[in-house]
Amino acid sequence: MQQSNFDSFSNEWWDDEGPIKLLHSMNKTRLLFIQERVLNRYDSLSSLEAILKKKKILDLGCGGGILSESLAKKGANITACDTSSSLIKIAKKRAASQKLNINYKVGGIELLKKKSIKYDIIISLEVIEHVNNYKDFLLNINSCLNKNGLIILSTINRNTISYLTTILIAERILKLVPNGTHNWNKYIKPNEITEFYEKYNLRLDKKVGLFPIPFGRNFKWIRTSSVSSNYILSMVN
Ligand SMILES: C[S@@+](CC[C@H](N)C(=O)[O-])C[C@H]1O[C@@H](n2cnc3c(N)ncnc32)[C@H](O)[C@@H]1O
Repeated sequence: MQQSNFDSFSNEWWDDEGPIKLLHSMNKTRLLFIQERVLNRYDSLSSLEAILKKKKILDLGCGGGILSESLAKKGANITACDTSSSLIKIAKKRAASQKLNINYKVGGIELLKKKSIKYDIIISLEVIEHVNNYKDFLLNINSCLNKNGLIILSTINRNTISYLTTILIAERILKLVPNGTHNWNKYIKPNEITEFYEKYNLRLDKKVGLFPIPFGRNFKWIRTSSVSSNYILSMVN
């Protein structure tokens, strides 16, 4: 299997002051969005915990498990996969030491599609801007989605503002993220996702911008109506 560019982050993945600090800092805000959209989608079931337990959830491109651990602690029935074997190794070790029930796998969505495995909720945060063909990625996600499903994606818009905020300021000036982590040409406009999925009869559920506010030595992320840089959206079938 091809080596993931993210293998080199594995030793520092869980250092919330390290190269992944922005992912750590945004987790709480993304988790609130996920919980809200899950509750909204499956409102006939009793509680968030009951939904998370009943529905099959995939964390696609889970890295070292920041989101998967948060969901597993809420009782989720979760599978998490990533193309980086080093990150999955670290994630598995952490899950075992905390007795968390997370089914970690090395690989991408193609592997799950090949095995005809389907999920009710597919979440892929900050991954699509790293894949080579975003349309194939979206199609494969859709092939692995059960009826009455929910897809949640977070990524970065492609425009001058996102170049300034995520590459010039975050990578080159403030060095919050290692240089070269992002490739602006791979960024995706929200309507490229929504219009692509509409052709496959999925519809937009909700879309919000995410914006980092400096907070001590770290950041707090707030929701914004502007999706000009980081954003998160949900689609339903
Ligand atoms: C920026 S990290 C995000 C990690 C995690 N989703 C989070 O937000 O905490 C991107 C992750 O996507 C993984 N990745 C890149 N391309 C992938 C693909 N085609 N399938 C699955 N994972 C992929 C990388 O190995 C890396 O762990």
